[in-house]
Amino acid sequence: MTTALVAPLTALTDDLDAAVRGAHPGPARVAAVGHALAPYLGDPRLLRPDQCVGDPEHYTQHVLHVAPDGAFSLVALVWLPGQTTPIHDHLSWCVVGVHTGEEHETRYRVEDDHLVVDGTDVAGPGSVAGLLPPGDIHRVTNSAAVTTISLHVYGVDVSRLGSSIRRRYDLPVEC
Ligand SMILES: [Fe+2]
Repeated sequence: MTTALVAPLTALTDDLDAAVRGAHPGPARVAAVGHALAPYLGDPRLLRPDQCVGDPEHYTQHVLHVAPDGAFSLVALVWLPGQTTPIHDHLSWCVVGVHTGEEHETRYRVEDDHLVVDGTDVAGPGSVAGLLPPGDIHRVTNSAAVTTISLHVYGVDVSRLGSSIRRRYDLPVEC
């Protein structure tokens, strides 16, 4: 973690850049990025007020940084209480850290023409989790009574693609 007189967000993106480029693709890179992200979670100096603003209609993505070569992106997702994602998977590896609030994740797998719940997790402030496609179908919901903000690092250029979502799953869910 960089401790010089550098803006915390700049220090974080520097640390993420080093983690992405210093680790082999796959589980090692996901672990290195999670290790780099964790110390910054919950730091009130990290985000500007406008980067913490949600939308009453749906969860909100604020793009914080994209590497010049598109190797990774850092975004803040802001959920008001009860807001949720569609069931989806991702175009690339992803590391998620909870900055404030609480995320409830439900994981799924496809069986024939429907989805089956594979597990659930509740993640509080400071929690870090990694996703490595394939097999990363999930839905995330703000299960807290307050605004939840999580920081997501993706191995794609979200300023070009719009988001990291590969596809949405509208199949029926059987428990
Ligand atoms: Fe996701």
